[in-house]
Amino acid sequence: MLHTPILETAPRRVWRWGSEADTEAFARQLAASPALGDAFIELHGDLGAGKTTFVRHLLRALGITGRVKSPTYAVVEPHETPAGLAISHFDFYRFNDPLEWEDAGFRELFASPGLKLVEWPERGQGALPPADLEIALQTEGLGRRCRLQPHSPCGKAWLDALASG
Ligand SMILES: Nc1ncnc2c1ncn2[C@@H]1O[C@H](COP(=O)(O)OP(=O)(O)OP(=O)(O)O)[C@@H](O)[C@H]1O
Ligand SMILES: [Mg+2]
Repeated sequence: MLHTPILETAPRRVWRWGSEADTEAFARQLAASPALGDAFIELHGDLGAGKTTFVRHLLRALGITGRVKSPTYAVVEPHETPAGLAISHFDFYRFNDPLEWEDAGFRELFASPGLKLVEWPERGQGALPPADLEIALQTEGLGRRCRLQPHSPCGKAWLDALASG
């Protein structure tokens, strides 16, 4: 699933979400992107920036109907869409043992097909492969600022397919 890391200089794009409804609209658009299935997306941002909220809307847009728990304590929550796409939703906020990476099977999960969505990737102890797309969220007034930076050809293709915010 590792895509050639390129395009460090690829243009980043910024959206302004006035409310959660804008997060939802954006998640729907991203869910419709071509080849989103096999990808690794990093979610950056402070506590409460809206990372889990975004993942919830993305999973719903992909057809997942059950409760989407925050993986803060479990580190990873697995999901599967009705179309059979495996999704691993990680949160490395409390991850502090690099040995756990092997023991918990995270290496295998990352090597398997499917969508990987990772909150707090900076706490992944350097064990994570390069991401296809980096999403950085920041509180701005009552809403959020969202910056997207692609790091692979497919990340760039999704970005090109998104309408402006
Ligand atoms: N676009 C938005 N506009 C306004 N409020 C939002 C938006 N997105 C999320 N929120 C609100 O921000 C709060 C925190 O969101 P969330 O739990 O998703 O943050 P998080 O980044 O996952 O935090 P953590 O690092 O603790 O996991 C929630 O109350 C949510 O409703
Ligand atoms: Mg969260």
